[in-house]
Amino acid sequence: MSEDILYDQSHIGFLEDLWGEGFLSPGGQDEVARVLDGVDLTGAKVLDIGCGSGAIAVLMVRAYGAAHVTGIDVEDPVCAAARARATAAGLAGQITINKVTPGPFPYPDQSFDVVFSKDSIIHIPDKEALAAEVFRVLKSGGVFAASDWLRAHDGAPSPEMAHYIALEALDFAMASPARYRAALAAAGLADVALVDRSPWYAEVAAAELRELSGPRRAEWEARHGAEFIAHQIETWTAMVPVVQSGEHCPHHIRGRKPG
Ligand SMILES: C[S@@+](CC[C@H](N)C(=O)[O-])C[C@H]1O[C@@H](n2cnc3c(N)ncnc32)[C@H](O)[C@@H]1O
Repeated sequence: MSEDILYDQSHIGFLEDLWGEGFLSPGGQDEVARVLDGVDLTGAKVLDIGCGSGAIAVLMVRAYGAAHVTGIDVEDPVCAAARARATAAGLAGQITINKVTPGPFPYPDQSFDVVFSKDSIIHIPDKEALAAEVFRVLKSGGVFAASDWLRAHDGAPSPEMAHYIALEALDFAMASPARYRAALAAAGLADVALVDRSPWYAEVAAAELRELSGPRRAEWEARHGAEFIAHQIETWTAMVPVVQSGEHCPHHIRGRKPG
């Protein structure tokens, strides 16, 4: 059976055009810096869950001094892009990209000093199992530092939110801050903290919509195709109000394995 690729070349190309070379999520280096604020990566062994096309893995070695980053992802195109990026950066010895199947991580207990993730856990429906795996592979005293796209509550989405999620055509499995908090605490993580980033992303997403639909629309269409851009504009048009209302609420997430 052939694998359905969600982050295919056209998607990767569009998102990197919007969000920066090697980034498949918003905010670039500045937002990564905020996710990692106060986390010392010097000499650390890092796991990057959902590494995408790899700019953040390169950044964590180059700019933050991580000794080694293991990036995991579930699709071949992003893994290939991340490997190529690590090699081009001369960091193939310090960055390993593993294609994995969803589920338990293929690493022994206590393998990593830091588990990082940027806007990827949204694709993992079982937040409780994910939290247990994060706890298992962290060394004692290790840190979990992530960003993810959450939604305000775990009840039925509003019609506006359901419309937006359907337009994304990605395997979104959004959950509430309360569910993340409970999952991480139940797994054993201490100092669990969540920070709502929806005020920031509401502004950024509105600017993105203006960029795609404004005077430069023809340039976006020339690079990515008119039909593709029309679909993205429809998606962003649906997304901006649910981010502004806070029902779609990106968060930063922290926890620490005691010890
Ligand atoms: C929005 S992109 C973010 C990529 C990268 N973290 C970044 O910020 O540029 C989400 C990524 O999660 C990956 N993903 C989806 N399901 C996953 C899973 N079960 N485990 C790990 N990664 C997954 C996707 O293939 C995609 O590369």
